[in-house]
Amino acid sequence: MNNKHSASGFSTRAIHHGYDPKDHHGALVPPIYLSATFAFPTAEYGAACFAGEASGHFYTRISNPTLALLESRMASLENGEAAVAFSSGMGAIAATFWTLLRPGDEIIVSQTLYGCTFALLHHGIGEFGIQVRHVDLTDLAALQAALSPATRMIYCETPANPNLRLIDIAAVAELAHRQPNITLVVDNTYCTPYLQRPLELGADVVVHSATKYLSGHGDITAGIAVSSHALAQRIRLQGLKDLTGAVMSPQDASLLMRGLKTLALRMDRHCSSAQAVAEALQAHPAVQWVTYPGLRSFPQYELANRQMKLPGGMIAFELKGGIEMGRRFMNALRLFTRAVSLGDAESLAQHPASMTHSTYTPEERAQHGISEGLVRLSVGLEDVADLLADVHQALAKCSRPSVRPAATAAHVLR
Ligand SMILES: Cc1ncc(COP(=O)(O)O)c(C=O)c1O
Repeated sequence: MNNKHSASGFSTRAIHHGYDPKDHHGALVPPIYLSATFAFPTAEYGAACFAGEASGHFYTRISNPTLALLESRMASLENGEAAVAFSSGMGAIAATFWTLLRPGDEIIVSQTLYGCTFALLHHGIGEFGIQVRHVDLTDLAALQAALSPATRMIYCETPANPNLRLIDIAAVAELAHRQPNITLVVDNTYCTPYLQRPLELGADVVVHSATKYLSGHGDITAGIAVSSHALAQRIRLQGLKDLTGAVMSPQDASLLMRGLKTLALRMDRHCSSAQAVAEALQAHPAVQWVTYPGLRSFPQYELANRQMKLPGGMIAFELKGGIEMGRRFMNALRLFTRAVSLGDAESLAQHPASMTHSTYTPEERAQHGISEGLVRLSVGLEDVADLLADVHQALAKCSRPSVRPAATAAHVLR
């Protein structure tokens, strides 16, 4: 694989890493290898491939030239050694769990997680003899107290979906690695490697829903795991090949590589527009609280500045009047689309308690910092003036005297 750009900047690698047109008849865009299987020159070579003694592609559920190019590009962008591509973010997360955890092991997870990750833990691996423990990972003493000889994995999202709570990756990695055999896995979906690189901060595996910002156009579901060569090989040969079979299609890999070419440009725009929308929400009398890592009122503002290049494109907020008013706001939106997912060119609004996080019971949501009135915005790439006008006209329909005592973002992230 051609790696002449390995020392180049982020966007140069996102566009060129691992590919030289002269190796492909001059084709500027990498070809899509649609083949499920690959011919062996001899029977002995085929046997050597299966024995792991010869390298080469032999079946697309294990590897494919188009997937291999995407994987090497993602490894470069996350500053890891290797990556494995999956058909969805949940495919990447499930394969990582099933590969690295066994009955009797413990996994420590942060308090707030995407709804299907929470469901996988509690209705999936938790029912197969793996102990799942939620710990407030912002409290290092609590983490230290929770670690046991059976702990094999620490797992978190930072920022967390949907309340944007942050975890100090370097601090958690330092504690985790005082004990042998603990793998720190970080879901980097909200940030992408353009904003945050967990492996550089001490994490062992980064997982992504590449359905989101990485592909950026809402036209594929995809997932990625990035790590050392050794861990990636285990995740590929067990988690992908045998335990889930959740392989990405070569067409989707091509679309994902197209998305990566504009990742830095898109993230800059998502972040600057989200900052403007968050400030507008914060200034409005109908709004109870807003969490956005770029606001000075954000309880972990200092950590956000230290750990993330920019504050991201996601906002969580609640209106005075709770979810009743939140629904009025969402129904009044004209430019934002009412839809789940995030990281698309289109701005999206959704209600986690009844949508993406309805996998939690109401009691679990209360325990895990997801308030019933929380509205989540994914700020897209439309003109910021149009986005602000849409938010303002929707807020105007929500103004009424306060019906609840004042709350702050610190209340929500507590
Ligand atoms: C933070 C996070 N991780 C993982 C996933 C799962 O990804 P996918 O929907 O691609 O399976 C999602 C989906 O919304 C997510 O928001």
